[in-house]
Amino acid sequence: MNLKSILSLAITATLFLFLSCAEPNKKFNIKEFISHQLRIGVNEAETRINDQLAADDQGELRVSPRSVSEEGELNIVPSRDWTSGFFPGNLWYMYEWTGDDFWLEKAKYFTSYIEQEKYNDRTHDMGFKIYCSFGNGYRLINDPQYRDIMIHSANTLITRFNEAVGSLRSWDHNRDKWDFPVIIDNMMNLELLFWATRATGDSTYYDIAVSHADLTLREHFRPDASSYHVIDFNPETGEVQNRHTHQGYAHESAWARGQAWGFYGFVMAYRETGSKAYLEKAERIASFVFEHPNLPADLIPYWDFNAPGIPDEPRDVSAATIIASALYELSTMVNEKSGFYKKTADTILDNLEAYYLSPEGENYGFLLTQSTGHAPHGYERAVPIIYADYYYLEALLRKSSIERGRN
Ligand code: GLY
Repeated sequence: MNLKSILSLAITATLFLFLSCAEPNKKFNIKEFISHQLRIGVNEAETRINDQLAADDQGELRVSPRSVSEEGELNIVPSRDWTSGFFPGNLWYMYEWTGDDFWLEKAKYFTSYIEQEKYNDRTHDMGFKIYCSFGNGYRLINDPQYRDIMIHSANTLITRFNEAVGSLRSWDHNRDKWDFPVIIDNMMNLELLFWATRATGDSTYYDIAVSHADLTLREHFRPDASSYHVIDFNPETGEVQNRHTHQGYAHESAWARGQAWGFYGFVMAYRETGSKAYLEKAERIASFVFEHPNLPADLIPYWDFNAPGIPDEPRDVSAATIIASALYELSTMVNEKSGFYKKTADTILDNLEAYYLSPEGENYGFLLTQSTGHAPHGYERAVPIIYADYYYLEALLRKSSIERGRN
């Protein structure tokens, strides 16, 4: 054997050894991806909280990751921001999914910063903040302190109820435009009130929630089941003064996340009350969304169904995750269309996994890209936003629970 043959044999043997030792193509595992991303998110948030504490910063403590700006900066917000409950909620969902005490400890830590919101009577967003954080925590660990905080929060929320109108006031801002604005998103905050009646036996919370939902049913919807964003009522007479948008393209357009909040809200309200009118509305909203000519083939809506530049408009992944999560629940409530709702939700999740995940290790640990917060203000367009991740996790857990039940 000459030198050339020996060299060639050695190279072949080394190559064989390398190939046989190399890891076989590892299949992508969504749970591992999410765990990796959320650990990054926890690290980023803890570092920022510790930096603020070390600097003895007298300003409001910013405790919850909200979004990544279009310039690539992490936006971390104080507890009073309407999105502050979602990050702790994500950690509770991870604890539920894995049973790992790491997530329990982190969920408790980030949830503790939200407690002061129980006193905040200047917003309707109590449900988003408290139910997503303490609510998930209470469901999973039954801590009686969490229960007290939730009841206190529900009591604060119902101070915003106006008898003449029959609903909770959503916003206090823009007083020059609206006297008593009620937004479709407000349906989501009713879940805390339904829970409070179950927890205490006091029907006050339930009655307010039903009154609010019934008014929303009457006044927010157009004949095609799309919804207005903001209805402005006369606080003395309860009459409708204006039907407006705030985050949508136009007063008469269908803002995608608004359709998602309405859909999820009425599925939840049907679960809590058994009222067929709520179920019917939820199913009609689903038809509006899934039969809409401007819904893209991958089922991830543009930020507004009537945005003028479609198809060159930002998507809103958050609308898709909210809808997917509610579709799973709806699929358990009906017979004939159950399979269609479940399959549609599965398709949304498949497409999110295939096309909209953050590159692993990037985006400060956010899971999904391409959500749109407030396009008309040029704010949070096609970026990672925390509530998209929250409803994505919720949808994954609901899917898994439905499929386990079937097996
Ligand atoms: N609730 C505010 C939003 O959906 O942007």
